[in-house]
Parts: sequence; structure tokens; C-alpha cells
Amino acid sequence: MRGILLLSLLATALTENWNYTWNGPGHGDTADSNTENICLTDAASCGCCVMHRHMWKMERFFNLSLSELRKELETAQAALDGIRASRSAFSVALLDVRNCLGPLRQEVTIMYQSVFINLGESYNPATGIFTSPRSGVYNLAVTMYSDSGSAGALLAACGSLRVNGRELASLSERNDQDQEDSATVVLAVSLEAGDQVSVHLLPGCFLCDSKSHFNTFTGFLLYATD
Ligand SMILES: *[C@@H]1O[C@H](CO)[C@@H](O)[C@H](O)[C@H]1NC(C)=O
Ligand SMILES: *[C@@H]1O[C@H](CO)[C@@H](O)[C@H](O)[C@H]1NC(C)=O
Repeated sequence: MRGILLLSLLATALTENWNYTWNGPGHGDTADSNTENICLTDAASCGCCVMHRHMWKMERFFNLSLSELRKELETAQAALDGIRASRSAFSVALLDVRNCLGPLRQEVTIMYQSVFINLGESYNPATGIFTSPRSGVYNLAVTMYSDSGSAGALLAACGSLRVNGRELASLSERNDQDQEDSATVVLAVSLEAGDQVSVHLLPGCFLCDSKSHFNTFTGFLLYATD
């Protein structure tokens, strides 16, 4: 498509009847008569003039093409800068040391302490909340794990993934036969800029982690919609 456009521009540049002189464009209609006069009296100069004329046309054509390409490049560059500026990804784990959280009577927001990546700094380890930096489609994933300590003891790996306090999905793995178990949820969701995403530990549930990072919370922007 671009090739066809360039070719037709070139054809136009070469066939159109421009006003030009020895000194280039914009010198009125004396150009042709000059050329003709020279062609009558001096064939060598005439050939040179014609060449000059064609070179000027070509130069003009390439100048035009170049400025078109520059404009396109600027547009592409601006789009790329926008994508770079909106990069957002976080991935965190509950703890770096062997310990458990819960069980508690009250529900709490889980503060994942071990940060793998926090591109754009939108996850706050002090609150456990990820604040969406811009509107878009995000991928969210939570894995919960618990270890009851011994086979037969009550196991309750359970929690809730929420946006602005509203539940998107819950995780639940409760039984009293396994010693350990895990639950996972993965979603693609549309978030508005400023939406707050958090994971909550439900009453009576408890999670255990270690440097193996059994409990993780991950989110990243697939693409922006604003
Ligand atoms: C050439 O210039 C003259 C006067 O400057 C103008 O009347 C004429 O339309 C021009 N021709 C072209 C092809 O631009
Ligand atoms: C082409 O661009 C150059 C650099 O900007 C300029 O000096 C030259 O006069 C232009 N030529 C034509 C024919 O427009």
C-alpha cells in the first residue's frame, strides 16, 4: 500500500507541470522560456537544465516522502511511549520465612510481604492493596496454601479476591484428611483506574508459607482501554 502511494507520488512529481527556474521553485513562469531560450542557443546547457529540473523534482518527492515517514514515526513513537508508561505488573508472595497467618476471628486483608516484581509500584506491601494505575484488562491470579501440621488435623486454606471490597472469586480448600493443600484462581478482568484489588483471609482460615512461596498474588495489565 505504502509502495503504491510512493510510486504514484513519484509519478505525479515527474509529470506535473511545475513552475521552476534554474534557481528552483517559486520564480514564476519565466522558467520555461528560459529553458527554451537556452535550448535554442546552447544544447549543452539545455541538457544540464533539464537534468537539474528532474533532480529538483526527485529531491522534492523524497523530501515529501521523508516528512511523511517522519510523521508516521513520531506517531508510532508516541504510541510506544504510552505503552511503556502504562506498564504495570506485580507479583508477591506471603512470606520469606516459615510461618502461618491465621486462623483469626475477623477477616483481614492479606499483606503479601515478599515482592518478586512491582513494576509501576502499584502494589502496596504495607496495605496488601494493588491500585490499578489505569483502566484496562488485567490478569489476576491468587494461589493459597496451608499446612495443618499433621494428617487428620483441620485444614482451611480459604480466602477471597476482591475489587473495591466486592468479591470477584473465592478460594476454598477445607478438609481434615490431607495435611496440606492449595487452591488457585486466575481471572482476566476489566478494571477502572484507581480500582483497589486485594485478597482477604476469611475467619477461621489460615495460610502457611515459607521461602518456597506457596502463597502468591499476581496481577498485570494485559492492555489499557483508555
Ligand atoms: C506558474 O506561475 C504562474 C504565475 O506565477 C501562474 O499563473 C501559473 O498558474 C503557474 N503554473 C503552475 C502550473 O503552477
Ligand atoms: C529538501 O530538503 C532539504 C533539507 O530540508 C532542503 O534544503 C531542500 O531545499 C529541499 N528540497 C526541495 C526541492 O524541496
